Amino acid sequence: MTHHLSQEFAWPKHFLFGSATAAAQIEGAGHLYGKEDSVWDAFARKQGAIAGGENLEVAVDHYHRYREDVQLMRELGLDSYRFSTSWARVVPGGRTVNEQGLDFYSRLVDELLENGILPWLTLYHWDLPQALEERGGWTNRETAYKFVEYAEAVYAKLGDRVQHWTTFNEPLCSSLIGYASGEHAPGRQEPEAALAAMHHQHLAHGLATQRLRELGAKELGITLNLTNAVPNDPTDPVDLEAARRIDALWNRMYLDPILKGSYPQDLLEDVSHLGLAEVIQPGDLQIIHQPIDFLGVNHYHDDNVSGHPLPGRQPPAVVPTDSAKSSPFVGSEYVSFPARDLPRTAMGWEVNPQGLRVLLNRLKKDYENLPALYITENGASYTDVLSEEGTIEDEERSEYILNHLDEVARSLEDGVDVRGYFVWSLLDNFEWAWGYDKRFGIIYVDYQTQERIIKNSGRAYAGLIASNRTMA
Ligand code: NOJ
Repeated sequence: MTHHLSQEFAWPKHFLFGSATAAAQIEGAGHLYGKEDSVWDAFARKQGAIAGGENLEVAVDHYHRYREDVQLMRELGLDSYRFSTSWARVVPGGRTVNEQGLDFYSRLVDELLENGILPWLTLYHWDLPQALEERGGWTNRETAYKFVEYAEAVYAKLGDRVQHWTTFNEPLCSSLIGYASGEHAPGRQEPEAALAAMHHQHLAHGLATQRLRELGAKELGITLNLTNAVPNDPTDPVDLEAARRIDALWNRMYLDPILKGSYPQDLLEDVSHLGLAEVIQPGDLQIIHQPIDFLGVNHYHDDNVSGHPLPGRQPPAVVPTDSAKSSPFVGSEYVSFPARDLPRTAMGWEVNPQGLRVLLNRLKKDYENLPALYITENGASYTDVLSEEGTIEDEERSEYILNHLDEVARSLEDGVDVRGYFVWSLLDNFEWAWGYDKRFGIIYVDYQTQERIIKNSGRAYAGLIASNRTMA
């Protein structure tokens, strides 16, 4: 393995090294112990929605194996574990609170604390109760108020032990991909609905942040997936304009209301035909613009953007969703994602670690009141091979993770206030529309036996954490 700056870097004393998962992707127990359908359970029953016709019923059985999984976290030396609670488990059918569901999270939190691992809780990682979707889902403003009730129930149970509360994970995906491109649950293809969903999720974030703070929560934040929208030809005004549109839609539409209290003017003009102005009610932006204690950044790859059609023989856009989640919003303007000469992961995503440093510095430069940053997701899917000796020698994933950690270290040297890094993911799991084929784990899961095996990348990450402790 190549030598890395991150392996000898003097990381700040309280820097958190963690790993992340999400309820729907790992828990299983899809309809057990009082849990009812989430939008993803319902979506998985639609023909062709999920690769291989797979579902979330068993996933990697974390619900029953959480103790074993916490022992693996301990073996890796993780400081913190980022997980989500499932709304459909805690408030099945969007009706009454399911104590059994809350008890599961309570046991998990106790287990983490007993093992010296800081719980980092996300309230919404895409699993809306299907019953609420049937009442309009996120297009219905009422859902934002239902979210607050759900947040209160989780806080009442866990607020004595959990310090870090994240309202939403990647609202871009659960609004634009869920309601416009339709590749995620609930699978709707209505751009107007997607913008309403986005605004109501912002509102839910603001309302829940207000309420949890009133109730005594100390560390509150949100996780956004952010990218660098790179103009394919920086000297071409057409490419520059396309990159501006993507930056407005994917980055600033989320950052600005939360951190500045307003939607970007250029975005409002770009989407003026899609009714966003009509769903914004007086006072909403003040609610959305609550102070937050941290901003979670999920980053995997940059996006190379052009305003020109792809030449005939170009491979398809970087990821199918990239074009799908933008095309309804760019009106008559053309936006494409030409492939660059960079290595790619099994998702087809570009590998360009320097982008992470560019992104972090950009946040620092553009947002005056930027709270502390945490990289809440970064990682890679590669095709893993289980060797005869029972090992997974996933050199590419190790390099991906350590190269990105090098860039986090450089960002710290640049003066960016980054306080933690969570690898996506702890375990191989259900990769949404891609099913189980795309493995992101630093721990391999045999989906037949549910056996877990720490991959070499997990060992490399654990090695970095351990050597940092020795140096401290
Ligand atoms: C973003 C999401 O938060 C997570 O659920 C997903 O599995 C990873 N990125 C990888 O695509």
